[in-house]
Amino acid sequence: MLKTSYFKKEKVNFIDKGKGRVVVLLHGFLGAAQIWEKTIDNLSTSYRVIAIDLPGHGSTPCIGYAHSMELMAACVKAVMDSLKLKKYVIIGHSMGGYVALAFADRYPDHLKGLCLFHSTAYADSDEKKSDRWRAINLVKASKTVYTKNTIRNLFATKNLKYLKEEVLFAVEIAKQTSKQGIIAALHGMRDRPSRDLILGLVEYPVMMVIGELDTILPAEQLLEQSQLIKNKSVLYLEHDGHFGFLESPKQTHSELRKFLRKCY
Ligand code: MLT
Repeated sequence: MLKTSYFKKEKVNFIDKGKGRVVVLLHGFLGAAQIWEKTIDNLSTSYRVIAIDLPGHGSTPCIGYAHSMELMAACVKAVMDSLKLKKYVIIGHSMGGYVALAFADRYPDHLKGLCLFHSTAYADSDEKKSDRWRAINLVKASKTVYTKNTIRNLFATKNLKYLKEEVLFAVEIAKQTSKQGIIAALHGMRDRPSRDLILGLVEYPVMMVIGELDTILPAEQLLEQSQLIKNKSVLYLEHDGHFGFLESPKQTHSELRKFLRKCY
């Protein structure tokens, strides 16, 4: 189930579970393949699920000082090529969604569907770009404080008190990310281009998952963005922040399954 591939001579670790049509899961910033544990267990009863530790995250090492979304997409492509898989659906959580869009841009012939899970096709605003620099300084000062605060902020505040186990699980996974990995991802996210044109161009289904209480990507902006999609599915999670698959796993998995049936 745990497998290894290579990208630019570095080991890339991933989970490969189930049989059938292929679904690729890409974690977000400070995540790892393992963050999708429940989603993998659910979807792998009907699909072959590949969840990859992106460069600088989980147990995949850093590949450079800045991990552009294109570099991470090339890493995903290397894994999929090593498995000789040609067509798949990609589900990307937040930063994983930015990587999925870079993938859609560079390798369009491989996609059967794309899900932006708490993610956006727009580039960082000027304010967000300055926040990335501030974050780099915070990580340099204390990685532990930075990661813990960042992860807590991904959950809806009202969910924190009864999702203690899930918060701890996400914090433990975030600890695996090295200081260099965090900084490389922050550079990559800051410099990514807008890819909203893709949403209106592609014929395959595109899903957006939106959390009403998401403090990272405001729900209204994402709802507006979803209007651009030609063949769309939208899941609006009223009670969740930026971690829907941990905050409302049941609802999320049943909607992801509907979306996957539409793709295949
Ligand atoms: C993530 O969860 O991947 C990040 O919060 C995305 C971002 O900071 O833009």
